[in-house]
Amino acid sequence: MSGSSSERLGPATLGVHGVDEARIPGAPVVPPITQSATFHWACPDDGELLYSRYGNNPNQLQVSSKIAALEGAEASVALASGMGATAMALLALTRSGDHIVASSRLYGATHALLAHEFPRRGVNTTFVDPDVGGWKEAMRPNTRVLFIELPVNPTLRILDPRPLVDVAHERGITVVCDATFASPVNFRALSFGIDVVIQSATKYLGGHSDVIAGAVSGTRAFVEEATRMSRLYGPSLDPHTAWLLDRGIRTLDVRVQRHNENALAVARWFEARPEVRRVLYPGLPSHPDHDLARELLSGFGGMVGVVLDGGGEAADRFMSRLRLAIAAPSLGGVETLVSQPRWTSHAGLTAEQREAQGIPDGFVRLSIGVENAEDLIADFDQALG
Ligand SMILES: Cc1ncc(COP(=O)(O)O)c(C=O)c1O
Repeated sequence: MSGSSSERLGPATLGVHGVDEARIPGAPVVPPITQSATFHWACPDDGELLYSRYGNNPNQLQVSSKIAALEGAEASVALASGMGATAMALLALTRSGDHIVASSRLYGATHALLAHEFPRRGVNTTFVDPDVGGWKEAMRPNTRVLFIELPVNPTLRILDPRPLVDVAHERGITVVCDATFASPVNFRALSFGIDVVIQSATKYLGGHSDVIAGAVSGTRAFVEEATRMSRLYGPSLDPHTAWLLDRGIRTLDVRVQRHNENALAVARWFEARPEVRRVLYPGLPSHPDHDLARELLSGFGGMVGVVLDGGGEAADRFMSRLRLAIAAPSLGGVETLVSQPRWTSHAGLTAEQREAQGIPDGFVRLSIGVENAEDLIADFDQALG
């Protein structure tokens, strides 16, 4: 924790102002875009060498400090994508011979990184199914990282991080959480003892489906190491994208409040429909983790899972009839996006494997936007036909 005055400000205020805006006459209210790769510098007497791959361009620094304030972290580094953030965090935390314990319910590319890429660098992962348990048994003397995602895509299951944090910390293991689906507005991961929080800023932080970006937050020492990795591996955030991301974050809180309200209205509406076998939304009492969600989250989020009777065909038909909501992967933008995990995030699994994870054919994932809820519901109504 930074111990700075920013901790006393709410997320809406921090999103607008950040922590260190210049208040001198003539300073622009909106920070200018410093679209420069390099900066005048001749010798060490000129101070720190600035170079935009180093992450010390003014726009990169500004958006990173705003994200740190929102997460309640000592430091953050904004990077070129969510996967860039995950990869740099794991490179910073592990060496050849180390071991990771991870939830089996992870974003597909994160799973692939852990299952197939890190082993090539001598870092192996044991996956634990949160429904089955066995976290402690999976930990070894060389385990360095415990990696979880919260909430999980697309079932929106919530895992209680608190007992895991206790077990991990007893063994000196760093707990990393990808909290993209919640955003820092709905889930303040670090306040539950999690050490490192990852955001795909492409989603709610950016909020307009127009940037690819990521962020990783934690202690200053950890963020310095993640930044060092980024200087070597190269996924630094372009200054213009950093500026766009900052612009998105200015409205993060109001957008997320609206996503939360709309998603709850839509989830309730779907739950009353005869064509629907099941609705998964942490804000509904029918969700298996509803009580935990009430405890951990400040809002239930904008993501809704709907299982249509009639399987894949019914889902295809529903999607083809949508007029307002857009069929597209990704999430967290102002516009409502709809996708089927069997064609996107879970395409690599068999229908049986998906079914076992609670994602039968007919599962439609909705990223509810900030439109008027009644218009969205009217669109879903005509699409259900
Ligand atoms: C939970 C989660 N984490 C990470 C990522 C990767 O983010 P990016 O596409 O910005 O690399 C995604 C992308 O969909 C995601 O849903």
